[in-house]
Amino acid sequence: MTAELSPIDKAKFVAAKRAVDYVEDGMRIGLGTGSTAAWMVRCLGEMVREEGIRVTGVATSTRTADLARQVGVPISTLDEVKWLDLTIDGADEYDPHLNLIKGGGGALLQEKIVATASDQMIVIADATKQVETLGAFPLPVEVIPFGWQTTKALIEEMLGNLDVLGTTTSLRLANDQPFRTDEGNFILDLHLRHIPNPQQVSLVLNQIPGVVENGLFLDICDIVIIGAGDGSVEVRDINNGTVEHEQIDIIDTDNLFLDVSD
Ligand code: A5P
Repeated sequence: MTAELSPIDKAKFVAAKRAVDYVEDGMRIGLGTGSTAAWMVRCLGEMVREEGIRVTGVATSTRTADLARQVGVPISTLDEVKWLDLTIDGADEYDPHLNLIKGGGGALLQEKIVATASDQMIVIADATKQVETLGAFPLPVEVIPFGWQTTKALIEEMLGNLDVLGTTTSLRLANDQPFRTDEGNFILDLHLRHIPNPQQVSLVLNQIPGVVENGLFLDICDIVIIGAGDGSVEVRDINNGTVEHEQIDIIDTDNLFLDVSD
């Protein structure tokens, strides 16, 4: 079955498969959102079904919660479990310090709350997400719908004083309507192109009243696992300063490759 996967899906799958090696019996796990995180949820579901491992998942979006229930991962809420052992999530960009841009899927707020409430965060990605400096991927910013155009204008004005290359912003749309997050908010995508000082940008953005949160994840990620289409992975641990290369054994199981939506 894996032979039918495209190289990019295979890269995402092996990164996800390697990441669930960090899961131990009894752990409370933050479940990320997106196509790479969906592979991780499926792998976790297989561990629950086949190995009987007991975990409690806290999903970062309704779509991840739906998938988790579909594949058999027990779901709770952050308010119930309070703190997490591990969060595994995808990213839109990661830099050499493992700072991230997230929110391409619109779930950045819950993702940031969950990752921050975890002892450890592992990012799973393919090599296309790797950058020297963050910013080529438009930075998602979650804003309150009330007065969003004023918030947008304030953000653009602020950006003019910051060390970034672009200052244009766009309201994210879905079916010609403003995209709504799980909290009912809007997303502004900031086309900054180059963010040499992400700490400064993050601080300034979060001081604007209509801004709920931005998609810069700084000093949150501990490990990035980079999958490749040939089934190999690179595991970079920022705390230990280690980089390891491994080949992942892929054993096809019909259950894992069930045609479930992300
Ligand atoms: C969701 O809001 C995002 O933060 C995702 O984690 C990110 O967009 C990566 O998604 P993919 O794994 O689908 O590329």
